[in-house]
Amino acid sequence: MTQVPRRRPWQLRDNELTDEKDWLHRRQIIRALGLGSIAAGVGILPGCGADATGTQSPLQERYAHEVGPAHRNAAYTLDRPLTEEVVAASYNNFYEFSTDKAEVWRIAHTLEPRPWAVEVTGACQRPGTFDMDDLIRTMPLEERTYRFRCVEAWSMAVPWIGFPIKALLDRVEPTGSAKYVRMVTRDAPRMFPGVVRQSWYPWPYHEGLTMAEAMNELALFAVGIYGHALPNQHGAPIRLVVPWKYGYKNIKSIAKIELVEERPPTFWNEEVPEEYDFLGNVRPDIPHARWSQATERVIPSGERIPTLMYNGYADQVAALYG
Ligand code: MTE
Repeated sequence: MTQVPRRRPWQLRDNELTDEKDWLHRRQIIRALGLGSIAAGVGILPGCGADATGTQSPLQERYAHEVGPAHRNAAYTLDRPLTEEVVAASYNNFYEFSTDKAEVWRIAHTLEPRPWAVEVTGACQRPGTFDMDDLIRTMPLEERTYRFRCVEAWSMAVPWIGFPIKALLDRVEPTGSAKYVRMVTRDAPRMFPGVVRQSWYPWPYHEGLTMAEAMNELALFAVGIYGHALPNQHGAPIRLVVPWKYGYKNIKSIAKIELVEERPPTFWNEEVPEEYDFLGNVRPDIPHARWSQATERVIPSGERIPTLMYNGYADQVAALYG
């Protein structure tokens, strides 16, 4: 986040975004062609070369059909075109691999998303460790298109597949002392070369939400994107998506979820508290310590547009903040 990328892929590409209608139409065609899973069709989508999206391991491909097709929740529509998949998949913040956004997808194959377990623990009646595939089978999966706004002032628009955090928390029955949800990325340096190289960071990556935020209808655990399983660079096999917050809150490759009474420390807030606060809400009226947050740069065109309060989700979340 404090790093300036060496190369910006959107500067090299045609400034083409996919209209949401077109993208959904392509998916219908893929289904009509009887290709079985949507994942099988990804390679034939115009603009989706095998390069950037091709980092899925054979294991991920095997599981791709398990997350798609998911019921599309039409309550979440966009006021802007969807970002082309190849663009989103090749411009990633994932410091466990690299600080160079354009490099992450090339080297993220060392992450092994299967087998994977998510431990849910702390202030709840029914703590447990859930196998990833059981979660995918038993949670209410749906597809939602959301705006995505990074604290660095770039933005995208992405179709996620996931389930509301509330669905998992209800399963473990939080007690009255659960005030915050702490989430931790898998602690496995052998899968994450950047952890070893940049040993000064407080690994594993950790983030947190208030209980009320986690129970909000917008808060998702995503297991898929663009109709198939999450590629490694997006945080396979499960990551947080809270679209009214800056990107750094959206923790990837989660292995532990803990319900706690005290506000938990969070990765970027610990590192640079004056630049990244715990809430991380998208607020165009509150500048970052080093730049304005009033506008954002749409990826890949670079077009500047005004940033919306809570990233356009004020109706759903403003009440959380009085
Ligand atoms: N999660 C982990 N574990 N490590 C990270 O470095 N980066 C965050 C967030 N989640 C990060 C992370 C930041 S700064 C952003 S902007 C988003 O992931 C980027 O998500 P994307 O690559 O899927 O667009």
